[in-house]
Amino acid sequence: MQVIKNYIEQNKARFLDELFALLRFPSISADPKYKDDVLNTAEFVAEKLKEAGADQVEVCTTDGYPIVYGEKIIDRQLPTVLVYGHYDVQPPDPIELWHTPPFEPTLRDGKIYARGACDDKGQFYMHVKAFELMMQTGSLPCNIKFMIEGEEEVGSDNLGKFVAQNHERLKADVVLISDTSMLSMETPSLETGLRGLAYMEVEVQGPNRDLHSGVYGGAVANPATILCQMIASLHDENNHITIPGFYDNVAVLSDAERKALNEAPFDLEAYKKDLEIEDVWGEAGYSTIERTGIRPTLEVNGIWGGYTGPGAKTVLPAKANAKISMRLVPGQDWQRISDLFKEHFEKIAPKSVKVSVVAHHGGAPYVTPVDSVAFKAAHNAIEEAFGKEPVPTRGGGSIPIVALFEEELGIKTVLMGFGLDSDNLHSPNEKYDVFNYFKGIETIPLFYKNFAELSQ
Ligand code: BES
Ligand code: MN
Ligand code: MN
Repeated sequence: MQVIKNYIEQNKARFLDELFALLRFPSISADPKYKDDVLNTAEFVAEKLKEAGADQVEVCTTDGYPIVYGEKIIDRQLPTVLVYGHYDVQPPDPIELWHTPPFEPTLRDGKIYARGACDDKGQFYMHVKAFELMMQTGSLPCNIKFMIEGEEEVGSDNLGKFVAQNHERLKADVVLISDTSMLSMETPSLETGLRGLAYMEVEVQGPNRDLHSGVYGGAVANPATILCQMIASLHDENNHITIPGFYDNVAVLSDAERKALNEAPFDLEAYKKDLEIEDVWGEAGYSTIERTGIRPTLEVNGIWGGYTGPGAKTVLPAKANAKISMRLVPGQDWQRISDLFKEHFEKIAPKSVKVSVVAHHGGAPYVTPVDSVAFKAAHNAIEEAFGKEPVPTRGGGSIPIVALFEEELGIKTVLMGFGLDSDNLHSPNEKYDVFNYFKGIETIPLFYKNFAELSQ
């Protein structure tokens, strides 16, 4: 432990400088304008893996953005940990709401502000530095493989193929990921699950052209109004989702499991205060923790149509659109849910409009076994580093590729995230605490030590 602390103490400034350099790359996978930046980020990550001591480092090309691979095999008889992370980030907009530019990392009140600071550059880079630490202090107790991708934020379209084609290379005993949240710095936690996702886009087409809203309004269906009515009907008065079959097979937790989940310290008043809302919202019969962890949801992610420019324009728009996503829980199949959504949405459309529904990406939910050696190793590592036992929680977000690791490679995942839900992921002023960054670098070697010992 002291060796770890000393190494971190002696290299603190450099560890931060390197993360800042990584954060300066605008590696926005969603926007083709940033193609070169995304590619340069992959090269940077490969370089850093090499410097830290990895062998077989390769920037593996795919039909999309490359996957950076690197490994250190010290003994084939020893267990192997596969570290997954992503070097791509979400677009920074609305850019005008950032207090400092998203790709000029800034230190304020002990926090690093930048797009990707927490999701996921700050978090996966802790693993690169923890690896360097173990190499330099001669304390790497098992084999390690890194797979850092560049398309997580756009659905990991090409990772599935890469994994399928690289079974041998990716062979490991556990996948270790830091790309989720902890409850708080005082209450460390370990996520035991991720939700799945089904992402849809809908279009409601009315007349064949925009119309004068005085001349035609009231006699021709307004697609914006119809779309709002259709969307509103997707939740009932109890905020249950109304799509037939949506809840079929949804895994039901036992009373004991629900009780355990709700025992996690959670301050509803602080939650509301932080978001400046008078009240929370959600499915009747479930707590906020349950609504974001074990229950499926449906959200409008964007909605547009008609005139949105300055001033007023009296127009009846020809069409209106929305992007709608559903978070899924164990028991729900994202392809089936996409089909059910499409069928239902088309069915509820009145004859006065035409509706088209397209399914974008999706992904399966995941639950981590809590009785595995790897989970215990993570549990004990956090307990040792934070001086407190971690609380098990269910994460609301999705990392679709995690279910695929299990399916394709037969490997379970441990989600050892060090972010906070309030770190503004995907939002302006994303941040990551310097404290969490170094605490993560301190915790990771303890995970390896425990994992190697418990695996014996
Ligand atoms: N790191 C997040 C997922 C996450 C965040 C899980 C916080 C748990 C807690 C990941 O980068 C992400 O944003 N995933 C997307 C899905 C993806 C297909 C775009 C998501 O959850 O919206
Ligand atoms: Mn992420
Ligand atoms: Mn993300």
